[in-house]
Amino acid sequence: MGLLDGKVALITGAARGIGKAVALKFAAEGADVAFTDLVINEDAQQTVAELTAFGHKVKAYASNAANFDETHAVVEQIKADFGHIDILVNNAGITKDGLMLKMTEAQWDAVIAVNLKSAFNFIHAITPIMMRQRGGSIINMSSVVGVHGNASQCNYAASKAGLIALAKSIGQEMGRKGLRANSIAPGFIETAMTQALPEEVRNEWIEKIPLRRGGTPEDIANVATFLASDMSSYVTGQVIQVDGGMNM
Ligand code: NAI
Repeated sequence: MGLLDGKVALITGAARGIGKAVALKFAAEGADVAFTDLVINEDAQQTVAELTAFGHKVKAYASNAANFDETHAVVEQIKADFGHIDILVNNAGITKDGLMLKMTEAQWDAVIAVNLKSAFNFIHAITPIMMRQRGGSIINMSSVVGVHGNASQCNYAASKAGLIALAKSIGQEMGRKGLRANSIAPGFIETAMTQALPEEVRNEWIEKIPLRRGGTPEDIANVATFLASDMSSYVTGQVIQVDGGMNM
């Protein structure tokens, strides 16, 4: 018996990194998994192969999460392919860092579109389906910087704070229809996004973490599984920081 037996999960930007780890954990717990990414490249195909090994239904879809019409079309396709959608993880995200005085309008717009508008797009497309099912769990992948802010990441931090408020608002608006919406705020997680940082910047981050290590994508996937499953059936509108105690 898995925690997610019989459920269908949709995860955005899951070809690699945290999204992939979430997809793998969900499949290990019995879920059928649909995931999106910008393109279905070798990474995405590898992820499909690893997911298929769990013996449940798996399909990858090329879709730009920042595009409203594309998102509605892909959600319709997934509903047709899988029959229902019980879990949505808004995971796709990018960074385009810079100090405010040097930040361009393009940097701001791109990060808000991919990180925040994408979640609006998917929630807008999926909530009618979840309301008809009278249940669903939505998880927004925020960040500790969405709670605390971060110099040189005003665009990213604002997008991640927006995801938290979006989940709380959906939780309030749709609780009576059986929908729950929560956010995860990962700290410093070892993925391509953080491996790109210079060694001294990485070390500075690790020194601020009481557990003295970067998190793993699996640390995030475990919490996502809790929020996706009926184990958290009385939890909505919350932000769970998964950051090794970096921000208490
Ligand atoms: P990653 O860069 O390894 O993976 C992100 C995935 O999203 C990639 O597969 C990428 O192709 C996809 N993607 C990007 N733009 C997209 C779009 N427009 N439409 C569809 N897919 C798109 O990143 P990582 O580290 O796995 O991060 C996943 C999420 O977790 C992001 O939202 C990130 O902001 C968040 N996060 C990550 C932290 C970390 O330390 N790695 C810390 C806090 C939050």
